[in-house]
Amino acid sequence: EGSKLWGGRFVGDTDPIMEMFNASIAYDKRMWDADIRGSKAYVKALEKAELVTTEEMENILHGMDQIHDEWSKGVFEVKPGDEDIHTANERRLKELIGEPAGKLHTGRSRNDQVVTDMRLWLRDAISTLKRNALQLITTMVERAAVEMDVLFPGYTHMQRAQPIRWSHWLLSHAVALSRDLERLHEIRRRVNVLPLGSGAIAGTPFNIDRELLRQGESQTAWIISDYETEFLFWASLCLTHLSKMAEDLMLYSTKEFSFLVLSDAYSTGSSLMPQKKNADSLELIRSKAGRVFGRCAGFLMTLKGLPSTYNKDLQEDKEAMFDCYDTVHAVLQVTTGVLSTIKINRGVMEAALSPDMLATDLAYYLVRKGVPFREAHGISGKAVFLAESKSILLNQLTVEELRTASPLFSSDVSAVWDYSSSVEQYSAPGGTAKSSVAAQVEHLRTWLKKQ
Ligand code: ARG
Repeated sequence: EGSKLWGGRFVGDTDPIMEMFNASIAYDKRMWDADIRGSKAYVKALEKAELVTTEEMENILHGMDQIHDEWSKGVFEVKPGDEDIHTANERRLKELIGEPAGKLHTGRSRNDQVVTDMRLWLRDAISTLKRNALQLITTMVERAAVEMDVLFPGYTHMQRAQPIRWSHWLLSHAVALSRDLERLHEIRRRVNVLPLGSGAIAGTPFNIDRELLRQGESQTAWIISDYETEFLFWASLCLTHLSKMAEDLMLYSTKEFSFLVLSDAYSTGSSLMPQKKNADSLELIRSKAGRVFGRCAGFLMTLKGLPSTYNKDLQEDKEAMFDCYDTVHAVLQVTTGVLSTIKINRGVMEAALSPDMLATDLAYYLVRKGVPFREAHGISGKAVFLAESKSILLNQLTVEELRTASPLFSSDVSAVWDYSSSVEQYSAPGGTAKSSVAAQVEHLRTWLKKQ
């Protein structure tokens, strides 16, 4: 074979099963572009340190460009013995330009090379995810602006709680996502660190200009996978948020609720029951949180108790990282599709409101007449009990009946039984009144412009 980067002290061949077990090229070839970018930067530092001549540098740069061309056209040929992307690119460079290729790795280890590649790859991946997330948040915010006047039941413990605006629900999820996006932005700062030029462990004995390499970005010398774990946490949290949202949407789109109709474009059918329309998009969005969290937990298990510096265990990072990225990338796009095509049944949503959901407002009516809230809560609870025992709705109690609970009730209590005016009371920031929901829309629009 003779193509191994480390063959010198070895006698005989690697067992083929070990060869396969050890190789990461099948998945790490995905970092081909980052690997080439890293090598091109590195050879410039080598030239500056007079470890390669200007001519050798030009040859290496030219060869790397050719390799780039082959990968981007999909014609790069992975050969047996190409252990990983670093080996493959260097092997090809040697085929293309001959001996000077052997100088490229001067003072470099695959330890600093692989982390450089992963960081460069992740930086681009993060930019893509940020764009996906921004699109989704924009969809939610604009939908909230258009459907501002729609009211529906808000639930806590999955029990009917208080009337809210549909937009209030949408924005609550948009806000969670906006924080996820801010977290992603934070992570990018810590990903944007360059280990190249730090060698395997000790650093570099050559005059490698690490400032030149990093072009204004910070650097680290030891292999610590915190930035990867952080990305996996992030993916887990972001998809946890989306799984909650998907669960709500799924419930609202059941026949029993009928608040929403999921677009056919994001639904599937049954091979047996012709009437079925299943919310597979939402179910998959819900499920992916588990998958991504599994990747995160799995990688942490790999990290736990590892000795310092590079250990081959760390090769396990790739599949976790790539899979989490691919999953979040897909989920964000599908969720945007679902939310931009879902139809709401305004009539059904509003008809689902019921007077018992105004029991809190009934207590607030008494609070406005000077009753301490605890006491008002108890009186309103009595009224709820009374209506229930008479099998009538809360707003069907007469003023006289209400007065058995408190003498402070008078005919103006009828104003409580209005859903539109109910929501309008909640006008403090974060409330469900039109003014505060509109303010939230504006706040998010401004925030979106700054991203
Ligand atoms: N394929 C390896 C990985 O992905 C590259 C680094 C190998 N370094 C080493 N010292 N064996 O982790």
